[in-house]
Amino acid sequence: MPRARRRDLLGKRVLGYVNWHRGRKFVHRRDILDVLTNDLIEQAPDHIAITGDLVNLGLPKEFVAAAAWLHHLGPPDKVTAIPGNHDAYVRLHPDRGTGHWRDYMEANAAGEALVGTPSTGFPFVRRYGDVAIVALSTAIPTMPFIAAGRLGTAQRAHLRLALEELGRHRLFRVVLIHHPPLPGQAGWRRGLRDAKALKAVLQEHGAELVLHGHDHAASLHALDTVTGPAMIIGVPSASEAVAGRIPAARYNEYRIDKVAGGWRCDMIGRAVADAGTHVWECEHRVLFEP
Ligand SMILES: [Fe+2]
Repeated sequence: MPRARRRDLLGKRVLGYVNWHRGRKFVHRRDILDVLTNDLIEQAPDHIAITGDLVNLGLPKEFVAAAAWLHHLGPPDKVTAIPGNHDAYVRLHPDRGTGHWRDYMEANAAGEALVGTPSTGFPFVRRYGDVAIVALSTAIPTMPFIAAGRLGTAQRAHLRLALEELGRHRLFRVVLIHHPPLPGQAGWRRGLRDAKALKAVLQEHGAELVLHGHDHAASLHALDTVTGPAMIIGVPSASEAVAGRIPAARYNEYRIDKVAGGWRCDMIGRAVADAGTHVWECEHRVLFEP
């Protein structure tokens, strides 16, 4: 968190700033993030997907710092990011905000060839071989104490087309969304406003993985869809220090293979250990096997 000037702290940011200095800074720590990030880079995955909340108060300097972190993770063709509610904390011109991450938040040529990106920028599609990423944005500025999100009708309509088209090409569809996508996963103040409508889209058109953040907790739900189960997975924050009931900073690795009769997909959870000095494999689960 950069030092904020008084004039930056108008409106909602004041509350967030107090919140940060009273508690969040002891929980979200740069040293923890670095331990996790270094482990992730060492594992050398083909691709890294980030489901948002890269900044806290939406100060312009935070967006620049987050862009440097993205560059540290890898080049834009190996890293996909979507924004979270904190990334739209206050209304900000894109040049001073998420525009710093633009290369990480846009389609690639193979994805664009299958599904065009609407002028609003979301959803955008990236294709890497048999895997397609559909990236959504639920980030909307809200009143203080509200951390809700919304996709809106236009984005949901594009999502329908995207899932249908990618399904027709028999691709493994990975949907990225910041807020937990199912109704009831988060309350009114923190939840996705159109979760019910999104659930219907997923059920009617299918997806293989739906990856989300926001809850700072590990979660897994299987949703029945027209093309089989969609696995809906939440992961703890990447910077959270271990403290009592707070889950440790973690990321999930997904190994996806096309095999005779369908897909094989394993999920490996890697979390910062209690001491905060290293990362261990905390979970290994088979999500799909034919
Ligand atoms: Fe969030």
